[in-house]
Amino acid sequence: MPTTSANDQLFEESQQHFPGGVNSPVRAFRSVGGTPRFFARAEGPWLWDADGVRYVDTICSWGPAIVGHAHPVVLDAIQKAAAHGLSFGAPTAGESRLAARIRAALPSMEMMRLTSSGTEATMSAIRVARGFTGRSKILKFEGCYHGHVDSLLVKAGSGLLTFGSPDSAGIPAALAAETLVAPYNDLAAVQAIFDAHGQDIAAIIVEPIAGNMNLVKPAAGFLEGLRALCTAHGSVLIFDEVMTGFRVGPSGVQGLTGIRPDLTTLGKVIGGGMPMGAFGGRKDIMSVVAPLGPVYQAGTLSGNPVAVAAGMATLELVGSVGFFERLSAMTAELMQGLVAAAREAGITEFCADSVGGMFGIYFAHTIPRSFDEIQACNRTAFNRFFHLMLDRGVYLAPSAFEAGFLSIQHGGEPSERILSAARESFAVLAQEGLTQEASARGGLAN
Ligand SMILES: Cc1ncc(COP(=O)(O)O)c(C=O)c1O
Repeated sequence: MPTTSANDQLFEESQQHFPGGVNSPVRAFRSVGGTPRFFARAEGPWLWDADGVRYVDTICSWGPAIVGHAHPVVLDAIQKAAAHGLSFGAPTAGESRLAARIRAALPSMEMMRLTSSGTEATMSAIRVARGFTGRSKILKFEGCYHGHVDSLLVKAGSGLLTFGSPDSAGIPAALAAETLVAPYNDLAAVQAIFDAHGQDIAAIIVEPIAGNMNLVKPAAGFLEGLRALCTAHGSVLIFDEVMTGFRVGPSGVQGLTGIRPDLTTLGKVIGGGMPMGAFGGRKDIMSVVAPLGPVYQAGTLSGNPVAVAAGMATLELVGSVGFFERLSAMTAELMQGLVAAAREAGITEFCADSVGGMFGIYFAHTIPRSFDEIQACNRTAFNRFFHLMLDRGVYLAPSAFEAGFLSIQHGGEPSERILSAARESFAVLAQEGLTQEASARGGLAN
């Protein structure tokens, strides 16, 4: 087949430079098939690819673009900061302003450090927990992803789950042995692990609302139980809010639940689309970080002034009156619309869930509450749906195992576009027999 589109040509070239043609695996479209879209421009809720095709973006750069792409207030802040110098490798006033804003929203972060990515934040948080407790083991949950940190690439979510290899190669067995894994939402399993290893567990790290195996909410009492176990055993409770921070509500999951973690990791929204992360928490724990204490952590571009300016402008917009009420209502309404569209097409094997501006769509009869239930979703139907939607100008995450993200600018036309594309796509799915009830009616193979 001759290559015709700019996307095809760019993909052919990028594969000469980058493994799989991409700089982060899920972008490669491997699990859904086809050519990844190369984007040239974004504005508000819209994306334009290299062929000039416009899409409604339901990924929002995997979370950060909560105020919409290229927001003029954020751009202005970036331009002003850039004009004063791109990086000093020295402290700035802006860093403290951003930290104060974060602390006002998440008071558990009594002291913090800024990093350049979420991965750096989680990597540093577990090092701090180990340094503080003098213990080596970390407990994580199946299907949770915390960045590409060696110790945390065990039974992980996101791209590892998408490609069916939840344990990365290249992690020494001795290090992987220090990572204990429990099923998400299974407090009894966590209790059993603490019974066996409680004295050795430095930390639990958890996505307090999971978003890297698609969206999975915590069961009643699950996070409270983790808090109690950590307190009883002197382990550090780390809420990885890289995805959920300033995304599910103004104060993350800790604000929604009232549960105070010992350490929190942030990323995505706090950088407003620029590279940024943060970790922080109890002052006594953070006091082990160099130069106050013996745990080393550093970064040439940490607290980068342009990223700080983008983050600060974004958080100011997010802090405007009614922001999360509007975002949450719009996201929930869109999910109801999608479910209604599926039912109109006679499909019952579809449901949806949301919290704040984060959502999950599932080809399943009920909303999954565990990793196993997520695994049981109909991936064939999702993959077909993904392409049907893409052909109709809606850019969904190219994997059944990722949550979706909307911006405050997705109301009105963008939401309508998503719904009309979904109505057509569900009708095709029903016709093709890719969902259970359709195949029971004698459609094509499931
Ligand atoms: C919960 C969570 N933690 C950590 C990370 C890693 O962040 P980054 O990709 O900025 O390194 C991610 C990225 O998706 C994430 O979702």
